[in-house]
Amino acid sequence: MIDRIDHLGIAVHKLEDAIPLYEKALGLTCERIEEIPSQKVRTAFFKVGETHVELLEPTADDSAVAKFLASRGEGVHHVAFHSSDLPAQLAQAADAGVRLVNETPTIGAGGKRIAFLHPKSTRGVMVELCREGAGSENSDS
Ligand code: CO
Repeated sequence: MIDRIDHLGIAVHKLEDAIPLYEKALGLTCERIEEIPSQKVRTAFFKVGETHVELLEPTADDSAVAKFLASRGEGVHHVAFHSSDLPAQLAQAADAGVRLVNETPTIGAGGKRIAFLHPKSTRGVMVELCREGAGSENSDS
């Protein structure tokens, strides 16, 4: 059900300081900047072929990304896998003993449905599962 890496999430202190690295040094184009109040982040998206890089800047001190920056500094924050069926994907992970950050999908950047697995049970890498919003599987109970 996972068919590709959707994006890499990278934590930065300030989007405006980090964007030039991706634009000037790597030659990528920032597609959009979007604030996601529910996640307490501002994001900048760069298309990289089939996938994206998502820069994450915290908008509050109690943002999960702010805590990540305080303990680990800037760097890769999560790997996001695209899945065709999030509820089934979450159930599979839970059955395998993985701790879920989100029991049911929430809404993330671009209106996507997203859910995180806890890095303590995924070998130190925060895993995001995502798919396009308003999908056909509206059966998550
Ligand atoms: Co993400």
